[in-house]
Amino acid sequence: MSAALHRVARTASPFDPDNAGGYRRWRDNKLAACPANVSALMVEIGDPRAPSVAERGALLAALRRANLVVYACGIHAADPDIPRALGRQFGLTRLDRNFLADDDGMSRVTVAGERARGEFIPYTNRPIGWHTDGYYNPPERRIRAMLLHCVRRAAAGGENTLLDHEIAYLLLRDEDPAFVHALMLPDALTIPAREDDDGIARPAETGPVFSIEPESGALHMRYTARTKSIEWKRDSAVGAAVAALARVLATPSPHHHRIALEPGMGVLCNNVLHERTGFVDDVEAPRLLYRARYYDRVAGT
Ligand SMILES: [Fe+2]
Repeated sequence: MSAALHRVARTASPFDPDNAGGYRRWRDNKLAACPANVSALMVEIGDPRAPSVAERGALLAALRRANLVVYACGIHAADPDIPRALGRQFGLTRLDRNFLADDDGMSRVTVAGERARGEFIPYTNRPIGWHTDGYYNPPERRIRAMLLHCVRRAAAGGENTLLDHEIAYLLLRDEDPAFVHALMLPDALTIPAREDDDGIARPAETGPVFSIEPESGALHMRYTARTKSIEWKRDSAVGAAVAALARVLATPSPHHHRIALEPGMGVLCNNVLHERTGFVDDVEAPRLLYRARYYDRVAGT
């Protein structure tokens, strides 16, 4: 994209802090379309590998309203082709393959027996605070969509709460536009390099929390509520914005969608904010979710 086109896309985005009129129009439409509760975002489907035209339409309608949909199907098989095929229906083909994922980029999220994985929270039964996926990824591996598919639930706990990142942006901008300004600074959040026994396993990543996709004008969010191994820009405006965001996340609202995924259920989203409660496993049948992270955004949203 040329520099001129890039500027046009940026100016046209309602998420540009300087586009007050566009933001107001977008905000009115967003709130008018907002689901009253999570049940408005739930869609039953027969076979995720081949949804009907009506099922596909219902899934897409929820995704357009809230950047997320919760689906439920009657197929409980531990088959990664089920979520993979569903993602493909929505243009999601470019999977992020991290070093803990299985070879095909479809991660099995389950409590790990071996130590290498257990050091990372997703592979334990501990709670996980608010975040978007891939906040430590470099820009060329930006995660725009994410899919979680439940094969087995925990004996107790393991629930997720989801919050559309566009709503988080809206609540912050309504409270004080300076908050979104600060969180759009290109050096707002740094994830320090992570070192392993061989030296540096991942270089430091510095970037904004909120950014605008140059091509689509869509809003991207990069965030973690972690306080260890995180460096926020030493700046009073950023400090105030981070505190305001933490308040938004901690304050229950109709936009906070709490879900307990049962076998055959899943979440497809444009990498919205999410958290997970801790859980207790049935040792005979431990919790198992497939997780896919994509460089693509859900097509048509
Ligand atoms: Fe996550």
